[in-house]
Amino acid sequence: MSSALTITGGVPLQGTIKVRGAKNLVPKAMVAALLGATPSTLRNVPHIKDVQVVTDLLSLHGVAVDNDGQGKLHLDPSNVVRAQHADIDAHAGDSRIPILLCGPLLHTLGEAFIPDLGGCKIGDRPINYHLDVLRHFGAKVEKLDSGIRMSAPNGLHGAKVELPYPSVGATEQVLLATRARGRTELRGAATEPEIMDLIAILQKMGAIITVQTDRVIHIEGVESLSGYNHSAMSDRIEAASWGSAALATGGDIFVEGATQADMMTFLNTFRKVGGDLDIREDGIRFSHPGTALKPIVVETDVHPGFMTDWQQPLVVALTQAEGVSIVHETVYENRFGFTHALQRMGANIQLHRDCLGSTPCRFGQSNYVHSAIISGRTELRAQDIHVPDLRGGFSHLIAALSAEGVSHVTGVELIERGYEHFTTKLEALGATFDVANS
Ligand code: EPU
Repeated sequence: MSSALTITGGVPLQGTIKVRGAKNLVPKAMVAALLGATPSTLRNVPHIKDVQVVTDLLSLHGVAVDNDGQGKLHLDPSNVVRAQHADIDAHAGDSRIPILLCGPLLHTLGEAFIPDLGGCKIGDRPINYHLDVLRHFGAKVEKLDSGIRMSAPNGLHGAKVELPYPSVGATEQVLLATRARGRTELRGAATEPEIMDLIAILQKMGAIITVQTDRVIHIEGVESLSGYNHSAMSDRIEAASWGSAALATGGDIFVEGATQADMMTFLNTFRKVGGDLDIREDGIRFSHPGTALKPIVVETDVHPGFMTDWQQPLVVALTQAEGVSIVHETVYENRFGFTHALQRMGANIQLHRDCLGSTPCRFGQSNYVHSAIISGRTELRAQDIHVPDLRGGFSHLIAALSAEGVSHVTGVELIERGYEHFTTKLEALGATFDVANS
């Protein structure tokens, strides 16, 4: 089903909304349940499409997933079975999660299959690191017309692995192969808070995983793991998205559930732009100061740097700052496509192939458009927009909410992949819009 919003912009977003478990943790935590000999319970689970996709994939493999509709999942892996390739393909949707099922399925069944993967269109998004990791662990990888088949009839064994870039997914791939026999050493690991929460879950299950200070992770293989009982960490990308929405629309939003420790870098940037913060035990209040916003220079990076997923909503807020801001995207080679719609709305944004940050990145010698100069402040005008990807799409919503006039935004169902009940939240914040489904 395709959904569209007709938004009357120019109204500051004001009020309270709540964020629940992180989209970039919950699906991986659900996959981890496959490793347990007993059932797991995951709490603080949001109602988003990615959770449904993983529920479908796990169910196909015989995992009984019970969602109480209130944010609690019960996952029982006692009857794991092989699934038909065509069924996996049909249920994968636009998600990249199937690649993370491989380690656990190779342990349990000795084989795994992944269809061609989707995910947001923000660059090539290859899976070479994942396949290399699995090969290091002893998996045999075969490319078929319909996808990739893997086998490891004798299980996986520990290995020394070094990642060329601290990839979140490839680090999770190593962690989810935690039942591999013997010792594993991972160098060049990602250390995002979502990864730390996944390690916490695995520790609850019985894993022995040590994180060192220099991106090195050691895993001591264990014979078996039990189920876990865990409450997912809060979604720091959604929280920051609403923070940027408060800045862009001149509003004042209390994000219940936002956690300071996971958002330090965003909070510093928010303050440098001139935003007001009230950091409380139960959440964070983000508000426009009422005076001019300031331009900034920001570079996206792996943790503890400024997250690539915070970049797109922030760019909309920067169109409202007085002066020239520079944003250097160093994680994805192609994450500024969403700015074309902002330019049509009147934003002054120039895109460049050079590294316009203090640190040259791996895209500097290639032909990728990965830096942006945003000159503000510009009044945004309403436009018709088609949502390109999850974060770009949310950014377009913010732009339409800031712009004078009526914007028609199509393809908004993509936003449901990662933003729980976002239209209900927009209503709670006083936004003026109509929804049409076709
Ligand atoms: N990369 C490779 N080969 C690989 C894997 C990654 O070249 O095999 C490259 C990617 O192309 C990219 C970089 O490494 O340039 C980083 O990718 P990473 O593996 O870290 O990303 P991911 O695991 O695919 C997760 C999140 C993304 C988030 C990134 C970075 C999930 C489901 N997705 O993706 O979230 O941007 O980490 O933090 O956890 C989003 O939420 O909108 C989103 C895209």
